Amino acid sequence: MDRANTKIAVVGTGVIGAGWAVHFLAQGFEVVATDPAPGAEARLREWVDDYWPAVEALGLAEGASKDQLSFTTDVAQAVRDAAFIQESGPERLEVKHALIATIESAAKADVLIASSSSGLSVSEIQAGARHPERIVLGHPFNPPHLIPLVEVGGGKLTSAESVTKAIAFYVSTGKKAIRINKEVKGHIANRLQVALWQEAISLVQKGVASVEDIDTAISYGPGLRWALLGPFINLHASGGAGGITHLLQHLGASQREWARDLGQYPETDDYIEQIARGVDDELKGRDFAAMLRERDELLVQLIATKASKVQIP
Ligand SMILES: NC(=O)c1ccc[n+]([C@@H]2O[C@H](COP(=O)([O-])OP(=O)(O)OC[C@H]3O[C@@H](n4cnc5c(N)ncnc54)[C@H](O)[C@@H]3O)[C@@H](O)[C@H]2O)c1
Repeated sequence: MDRANTKIAVVGTGVIGAGWAVHFLAQGFEVVATDPAPGAEARLREWVDDYWPAVEALGLAEGASKDQLSFTTDVAQAVRDAAFIQESGPERLEVKHALIATIESAAKADVLIASSSSGLSVSEIQAGARHPERIVLGHPFNPPHLIPLVEVGGGKLTSAESVTKAIAFYVSTGKKAIRINKEVKGHIANRLQVALWQEAISLVQKGVASVEDIDTAISYGPGLRWALLGPFINLHASGGAGGITHLLQHLGASQREWARDLGQYPETDDYIEQIARGVDDELKGRDFAAMLRERDELLVQLIATKASKVQIP
């Protein structure tokens, strides 16, 4: 594929679309971005400038250049000759439907349309489409130019071939793509996060630990391992010679017992004040903006180091 002459359309250039634009530019593609908001082009170009050092540090593909970015407020024009379309418009079904209709009025019939949607299902988004079989989920993690994960899946009318093609495309751009076999609310990684947040909130509410100590428990505990290997392989490693089978036979009963004792997500918003107070206490005396800059610096180093390892998947 001659990337310099392959157009990727980025539809919607808010937080997520801008990250996608930077990712595809860094991968050496031509990117045509579109967004109707006043000042959207200037904002996007500013973000591209801001994010570029990070993608440079991770390694640019041959020919990658910020000059490969063009912008139009006309969605149809943006997608006309595109080889792949990444939709990151507002999270409202009626907006997604209108966008898909405009995209389909101009895009080639066999070009994949990937939606970044966090909360809507592809089945909902593709309803009424002319070629629903090529509409897939391409759900990134923020910021999409740094975090490698993309969750890919289809809706009721998506062809299996489209999902396979989308995964192959993302992988060819350096993404870690996973396949969602069945549509579920929130996809996969966010469900796993919610499971953790649910218990973290509950532990604060029960007075078991402070917000700060729960953050430390993850960021200086299992979080360090989870960034390197997933929860199942880490369990396997904890099982010694017997691996995960031994571990689950040995400790599964107590884990089942703890699972029965876990909290539920609060039904009302009363909990928010307590959690927010805990976060304020945790951040006292720290420069939050500088903290986030340091986090992103470490993130780039971690992703680069991880990519240099042979057996780490
Ligand atoms: N923010 C996150 O952490 C996150 C993570 C993963 C996925 N997502 C998903 O990505 C999508 C975008 O979310 P976001 O956080 O970037 O929102 P955002 O509000 O930052 O960006 C949405 C952009 O769409 C633009 N827009 C409005 N109407 C449009 C149209 N007709 N055509 C093209 N663009 C249009 C808006 O001007 C805005 O710039 C959503 O579907 C969301 O679920 C968000």
